[in-house]
Amino acid sequence: MIPDDVIDEVRARADIVDVIGEIVSLKKAGREYKANCPFHEERTPSFCVVPDKGFYKCFGCGKSGDVFSFVMERQGMDFIEAVKYVAGRSGVEVREVKRDEAEEDPNRPFFEMNAFAGGWFRERLLDEAGGAGARAYLEGRGITPEVAERFGLGFAPDEWRELREASAKHGFDDQMMLSLGLLKQSERSKEPYDGFRSRIIFPIEGLSGKVIAFGGRIFGDEGKDSPKYINSPETPIYQKGQNLYGLSWAKNNIRREEAAMVVEGYMDVVSLAAAGFETVVAPLGTALTPEQAKLLSRYCTRVLLLFDSDAAGLKATFRAGDVLLEAGMHPAVVTLPPGEDPDTLVRSSGPEALAVLVDDAVDVLDRKLQILDERDYFSSIERTRSAVDRLLPTLRAAKDPTLRDIYVSKVAERTGVRRETLETEMQKRRPSYGSPRLEPSRPVGPKVRPTLRTRGGELQLLKVMVRGEEWVERAAELISTEDFYDPYHRAIFEALLDDPVMRAPPASMDPVAAQRFDEILADPEELAHGIEVFTNSVSRIRVLALDRRVQDLQDQIEGAVSDAEKLELMTKKAKLAAELRELDPNYWASAARRIPGTNNSNESSR
Ligand code: CTP
Ligand code: MN
Repeated sequence: MIPDDVIDEVRARADIVDVIGEIVSLKKAGREYKANCPFHEERTPSFCVVPDKGFYKCFGCGKSGDVFSFVMERQGMDFIEAVKYVAGRSGVEVREVKRDEAEEDPNRPFFEMNAFAGGWFRERLLDEAGGAGARAYLEGRGITPEVAERFGLGFAPDEWRELREASAKHGFDDQMMLSLGLLKQSERSKEPYDGFRSRIIFPIEGLSGKVIAFGGRIFGDEGKDSPKYINSPETPIYQKGQNLYGLSWAKNNIRREEAAMVVEGYMDVVSLAAAGFETVVAPLGTALTPEQAKLLSRYCTRVLLLFDSDAAGLKATFRAGDVLLEAGMHPAVVTLPPGEDPDTLVRSSGPEALAVLVDDAVDVLDRKLQILDERDYFSSIERTRSAVDRLLPTLRAAKDPTLRDIYVSKVAERTGVRRETLETEMQKRRPSYGSPRLEPSRPVGPKVRPTLRTRGGELQLLKVMVRGEEWVERAAELISTEDFYDPYHRAIFEALLDDPVMRAPPASMDPVAAQRFDEILADPEELAHGIEVFTNSVSRIRVLALDRRVQDLQDQIEGAVSDAEKLELMTKKAKLAAELRELDPNYWASAARRIPGTNNSNESSR
């Protein structure tokens, strides 16, 4: 903060002609100064600076203001920065101001460039003839000129070098524009050309309101082959995973209403704002990241997720849900009718229709339970087990202790798994997230464990799973994480459940697991044999997992202290053994060789 009296002093002492003259070449004309306007294209000077009054005005485009608004507008600074900038040039002795001025923001040229480009795109949209098509398109989508202005929307004409030429006139060089993605360069023609052409432009603002990047949507029939959206590349001032589109406009409302709405894209943000929803933000073409969740958590705890209701949207919803829970927030899901996104819904059915759905938002865990139920996950023991696996990540993610407690109770009630068991499972650190040492799934006891060929089946299954999402889906229904013997395989399996299309080990994965995962990716299973290999490896893994449980029970039986306990354990064991026999008719023959009590030998068979 800078005290008001300091600001006044800076304004009073600033020589507006000096400050503006540094950026624009001014010519004296009587008591005033004139120049070609830096805010719009012109050949005869209509930009005028009046030093006596400390303001500037352009009679062409109407821009006017004081020394601060000039540098804010022209250099892309926020107010505080503008005051500091001007103070540094006016010799105002404010220690704090001086110190900050000394360490000038090295990114300033980037902001200046984007501020200029954003202004230029806006002017193109407002251009009587040139912008007519773009304005009609926006109007057709329910975006009034007021809303367009609020979001700084612009238009990039269907021209190859107009922005480049306009920028060059204002002293911006190709290199800067290339690095911001405003210009592109092909290998054949060395001549850089405008990166955004024939598109509606959505400026992306940082928190302080400075333009840090652009998104451009194709419209009309132009360029049917080019992508729907083009986005600025990552630059020193823009990392897409760390910014939320719309937050600079919505943040105060989000704080006031103590809730935010998260939608998928630019159009949803703008269109919902047009419909009166003022707390809407969108991740920028990626899944919601932990950094974005953290950013949002500065303003609210409650978050409504409004993604498509198709499979991809649902996946995005639950991923975002877990990420938000990790950030200590309370996510809820708004379920849109099939085929609708928030924009189409408010357009077709009105804001009231969306308001009703928003009122019906369901907590993310409840929604997950609903979906599992709809998909019949609680119909059998086997599937309930698999459901628990799918719920565990969400239980683990919940960082808010109260919410977490409620979640555990709910899952316990729904699945019939005791709270304590769930808690224990939750404690198990997720191997895929960087547990430093991975223990095998069972403790190495004094006994020699029968080491059947455990790993082959696991490896084969993983190799099939990396062939495609549908395999992960099927595997998830049949195998649970605990069925894996090899801890590294288990880590890879968990990671794939989390993200079925993952094709590189996450940075946080245990190094050994990561290396194994790379090997699996390098050598996936031939698709031709996929189904066969899948079925075989699934049944092998299940047989072996059951076998281990049977043997665990056997160990416990031997160590049982009371007859009652022994009886209970033996009953359990008999049940599992029966299940096992059903799965693997040969089981009894091989088990007989290993399990003490089934005959008189207890040596390992292999
Ligand atoms: N997106 C992107 N690049 C693409 C497609 C999409 O960056 N080629 C991002 C954009 O941020 C976009 C979001 O993903 O806003 C959602 O995509 P989509 O639903 O296809 O676009 P909408 O914003 O809904 O646009 P519209 O309603 O005009 O189709
Ligand atoms: Mn849309």
